[in-house]
Amino acid sequence: MKLKSIVAAGMMMPAVALAWPWSTDMMNQPSIKPQEGQMATYPAGVIPVTGIPTTVSSREETREMKNPIEPTVVSIDTGRKLFKIYCGACHGNTGGADSPVSGKIGAIDLTDSYVQENLTEGWLWGTITFGSYVMPSYGVPSARPDSRGSNDLNVEERWHVVNYMKHGMVSDHAAKTQAAVQ
Ligand code: HEC
Repeated sequence: MKLKSIVAAGMMMPAVALAWPWSTDMMNQPSIKPQEGQMATYPAGVIPVTGIPTTVSSREETREMKNPIEPTVVSIDTGRKLFKIYCGACHGNTGGADSPVSGKIGAIDLTDSYVQENLTEGWLWGTITFGSYVMPSYGVPSARPDSRGSNDLNVEERWHVVNYMKHGMVSDHAAKTQAAVQ
């Protein structure tokens, strides 16, 4: 039988077509899948066992906050990894506003003096937590009128990103531009 006739036969008899051995999807197993069945509710009064909660409610309140995490090599390195994952798409992997979309959405250069000298560490943390005008939030999306963003970065992770922005990003970016020139 020619291929065309097989396909035509299958289309005329969909019940038979679905019974072909390869139409059994491996995904359909007796296991319980995400969001399937009754979701377990948390007992009353439970609190996270790790991490510290976000206690401020707007970016304005963060300006004078002190960074509780020392800019150690480990912290800067953690921040560098997180920055590439969460911020690089818009701001460029080393913050220099050189990603393909940076110019299109107006993501600013984070290596220049406006950010490095004028913005406090608290404000940087606050910007990641609550987002900015265009920029989405990464800590408390519900604080934005449009709830845009996620709560993907916990309190400590946001400080690690701040440590990277203030203590690793400028030299990373200089090394990257230097390498591009050579
Ligand atoms: C979807 C694109 C996008 C992503 C992702 C993004 N930003 Fe932004 N960011 C922007 C834009 C656009 C601006 C400038 C306009 C504004 O303030 O919203 C900005 C502004 C900023 C500012 C300046 C705030 C100020 O007061 O002027 C900082 C600091 C910043 N971003 C840091 C980050 C960090 C850190 C991340 C990752 C956790 C990140 N951004 C992720 C788009 C983005």
